[in-house]
Amino acid sequence: MKMRVETLSLDPEVEALLTEAGLQVSDLSGSPSLHLLGVREGGRLVGLVGIEAYGSVGLLRSLAVTPVRRNAGLGMRLVSNAEALAAARGIQTLCLLTITAAGFFARLGYGVVPRSEAPAAIAATAQFMGLCPASSTFMRKGLAADHSLPGRRA
Ligand SMILES: CC(C)(COP(=O)(O)OP(=O)(O)OC[C@H]1O[C@@H](n2cnc3c(N)ncnc32)[C@H](O)[C@@H]1OP(=O)(O)O)[C@@H](O)C(=O)NCCC(=O)NCCS
Repeated sequence: MKMRVETLSLDPEVEALLTEAGLQVSDLSGSPSLHLLGVREGGRLVGLVGIEAYGSVGLLRSLAVTPVRRNAGLGMRLVSNAEALAAARGIQTLCLLTITAAGFFARLGYGVVPRSEAPAAIAATAQFMGLCPASSTFMRKGLAADHSLPGRRA
């Protein structure tokens, strides 16, 4: 079945999927630049991802796929869509924090960097400052200027 990636509002269904995936939800409503993308199947939300924009840097967060739909390419597709959205918004560097999925993001071109190298705007986010434990892995990836151009890869 072809699944369309759509913009989501922060609602109880989004929060339930994130909670099911073990991810934080308490700081989402305080993030003015948050843009959520998701995929529905039969009307039910099966995956989502979020981007917070801070000028030329962005925070990729809240990536979750419902357990029964994992390992079918949905997670990577959501990240690809989030990167395209970020590039279209002028974001040149996408950052993220992850506790369990560093290997997943490494396959998508994200590199591990020390937390001390986080851009100031990212270091000031609620997720960076406190919601993820200090043991989480900080990663980043440079995005192409226009992600939508065929043949251009970040
Ligand atoms: C991480 C997550 C989004 C991946 O979604 P998905 O739809 O299963 O991912 P895809 O199907 O696109 O990719 C699957 C591939 O990634 C690998 N993979 C999945 N999770 C992984 C992880 N945590 N670490 C390393 N590799 C991982 C799978 O082994 C698979 O590899 P294969 O193609 O060689 O078989 C999903 O497992 C999830 O929701 N996890 C809980 C929440 C989470 O950790 N989010 C990330 C924090 S921001």
